[in-house]
Amino acid sequence: MLPRRSATEAFEKVPTLVFPNSATAAAELAGEVRQIIETKNKAGQPAVLGMATGSTPVPFYRELIRLHKQEGLSFKNVITFNLDEYYGLKGDHPESYGCFMADQLFNHIDIPEENIHIPKGTIASDQVFAHCREYEEAIDAVGGIDLQILGIGRTGHIGFNEPGSSRESLTRRITLDRITRQDAASDFRGEENVPHFAITMGVGTILRAKKLVLMAWGENKAGIVAKAVEGAVTEAISASFLQEHPNARFFIDTGASRELTRFKLPWLVGPVSWTPRETQRAVVWQSKKAHRPVLKLVDEDYNENGLSDLLSEQGPAYQLNIRIFNRLQNTITGWPGGKPNADDTYRPERAGPFPKRCLVFSPEPQDAIVSIGATIDRLREQGHDVHVVTLTSGSLRVADSEADKFASTLLELGATAMDSAQWKEQTDYARELVRLIEEKGEFGEDPPVLRRLKALILRGELRDAAHAVGLGQEKVVFLDLPFYEKGRYRRFVSTNEDTAAVAAHIRGFKPHQIYLTGDAADPSSVPAIGFKVVEAALKECEQEEWFGSCSFWLYRGKEKSFEPHEIDMTVPLSPAQLERKERALMRYQSLSSLELGAPQANRDAAKQYDALGLAEYEAMECFQRWKRTH
Ligand code: F6R
Repeated sequence: MLPRRSATEAFEKVPTLVFPNSATAAAELAGEVRQIIETKNKAGQPAVLGMATGSTPVPFYRELIRLHKQEGLSFKNVITFNLDEYYGLKGDHPESYGCFMADQLFNHIDIPEENIHIPKGTIASDQVFAHCREYEEAIDAVGGIDLQILGIGRTGHIGFNEPGSSRESLTRRITLDRITRQDAASDFRGEENVPHFAITMGVGTILRAKKLVLMAWGENKAGIVAKAVEGAVTEAISASFLQEHPNARFFIDTGASRELTRFKLPWLVGPVSWTPRETQRAVVWQSKKAHRPVLKLVDEDYNENGLSDLLSEQGPAYQLNIRIFNRLQNTITGWPGGKPNADDTYRPERAGPFPKRCLVFSPEPQDAIVSIGATIDRLREQGHDVHVVTLTSGSLRVADSEADKFASTLLELGATAMDSAQWKEQTDYARELVRLIEEKGEFGEDPPVLRRLKALILRGELRDAAHAVGLGQEKVVFLDLPFYEKGRYRRFVSTNEDTAAVAAHIRGFKPHQIYLTGDAADPSSVPAIGFKVVEAALKECEQEEWFGSCSFWLYRGKEKSFEPHEIDMTVPLSPAQLERKERALMRYQSLSSLELGAPQANRDAAKQYDALGLAEYEAMECFQRWKRTH
């Protein structure tokens, strides 16, 4: 059943439905699509659907395919128009939206080819204008779009209508925003390979659709979703124009909903059940709002900001402040593995057993060190047995030029060796690699041997970075899960094979502590899929003896960092410790700008605690206790 709209949604200017996860939302939407198709077809008309690409609609397309294959839904009488296409990519480029749609939907359903419309990204420059006009005319000719599916970019774009696109804009060629290109960087193996231009339906074109549904998943989208739903209608955020459409809705998951007022500041929209976490959220918010540390907040602060209810239940301010201050204080520990022989009543992690076996899952080889490298360092230093387990090889991140550098070095080494005959085999191998890189071209699929080389390059980087935080080679494990080896970004599908590999490792290690990430990430991302795999693997281990005493700590990677009220453990870093982490990060060749910003994010986390009136540290790595009932 659909979640109902209520008074708590008072700040939302467009109906926004929050689902527990993307799969539920996708199923709901696919059900609506089915109805549209059936109703229109009964009336003897084709259903006209506006399609989107990117990671967001993937679960929705999977559901449409399921409806077709298992429930006989036919697309013979469906006409589609895609929102956009990169400009300047070859038609058979795997990242072209034409290929994406074929791969993700059209090849799996019975839609006639002539019913599919996607802007042509290969059209000559002098014909772009005419092509765009024809695209508009083709939409009008079939009576307009019945339902337009949308995603949202971090710039707030719908289609590729970047900030500055007017409400009246029509299909046209545009320049992609820097943020949009950064977000597509991993698909293209580096930002430099992402096209600069695209052809997109305009905001005006999109708003002509009879019905619109914008989907968004994961915490990375939460900020922009809140602005589009609750903020002013503005050209700076083209999704905000949906507020002016009579039949537009947002379908989002809990991650993408977290910046909406009803979840972020629930006391502003209705009664709140004051759980410890909600209380902490309110006090932290009040402190930030008043620009005063927690212990300096007074009754008036709470009363004047919609928190009189909290005060009447848990006040006066003086007592409430002390309680929350102590709770925040207790999250800080230099002993992430627990402090031996100490009273651990108020410590986030228990003292025993000591030493602990700590298992750190890293979705791709860089994630763990980037996110919690200093904690790993600390755990090891304090005598724990720390293993970093990399779920995927990460080989899709590595640019051909990087692989070429390694192959060429090997080639040269062989050629210049004293006894080059002895090196013949290696030299031939290296020559073959160089040839393969050249032959496949910039975006061709990597043959297995090349993917292997790329995986090995990342293994080397991780070993090197792990060494910089004191971990020996034997403490770094590479699982190279099959879902990653068989897929591409946005199109990964995990299977039991992945779960079995992870479960086998966990069983062998019998950890006392597990660190993991990806619970809040975009569901098609490697961390999110990795998280699901680990979750399933843990389920298989549940009955084992060691399991009951294992603790689970979530960390955040590329997603938004934890807010202070969400933190259960934070590990403070001295300037020297942060510097050591920064030096470890330098061992990686291929970090994105977001990943390189991790130390700054650690500094910002410490600043937040400082502003609340807690001790002032240089930096912090933050964790949340994972309750497996989540
Ligand atoms: C794609 C499109 C874009 C995406 C948006 C979100 O056709 O028009 O607006 O919907 O960039 O991309 P993902 O879903 O990859 O986060």
